[in-house]
Amino acid sequence: MDPKKRVGIEAALRVKDGMVVGLGTGSTTHHFIKSLAERLKEEELEVWGIPTSYQSYFLAVELGIPVTTLDEHRPDLAVDGADEVDPYLNLIKGGGAAHTREKIVDYAAKTFLVIVDESKLVEQLGEFPVPVEVLPGALTMVKERLGSMGGTPRLRMAHMKDGPVISDNNNFILDVQFDNIPHPVLLEKELNNIPGVLENGIFTGEVDEVLIGAVTQVRSLKP
Ligand code: 5RP
Repeated sequence: MDPKKRVGIEAALRVKDGMVVGLGTGSTTHHFIKSLAERLKEEELEVWGIPTSYQSYFLAVELGIPVTTLDEHRPDLAVDGADEVDPYLNLIKGGGAAHTREKIVDYAAKTFLVIVDESKLVEQLGEFPVPVEVLPGALTMVKERLGSMGGTPRLRMAHMKDGPVISDNNNFILDVQFDNIPHPVLLEKELNNIPGVLENGIFTGEVDEVLIGAVTQVRSLKP
């Protein structure tokens, strides 16, 4: 079976009746949300989802998963994908430009479960450029600051639309390449200290478990 599908199905089995669940974004969580919707119907479970993007919101609504917000509920469990996972379970996320809402929902959850295939495991974060969501009026200033921190920022460009990607929050995304990221905990904080940065895609210290999907099995990593 496709590793992303296998791990998505496994994650859906972690959901219990009555739970509020953070619905991550991306192709791996797509399988999770589909599998969760099937369980809801077959087992008549009462579960509410808190989407992390328009993508997961539309999918949940289409599949009949009731949705709620952080104003009303706190997630018991958040299930989300990642672009890189290091041995300390630090992440880079935001390949789908959804990392700001993902971080809000994932960090709010009592349990944060990450689902990936093996291609996402790395020894050190940083081969994948760090997505940084930026207020449009601050773009030039933020690029300068990122450059002085040793990063090479690139404005993410859209497909099927001329010009830059506009995030679900109406902002730009800079993909920032660093030579290496020896201290992700520090970098996560430093990036968010730049005026005009809304949120960056480094996630540290919050993951409770990573499920890693392969063709024939799923294994688990815990801190
Ligand atoms: C979106 C994300 C995704 O979770 C991440 O890009 C992984 O995506 P996929 O499961 O498609 O590989 O952070 O912003």
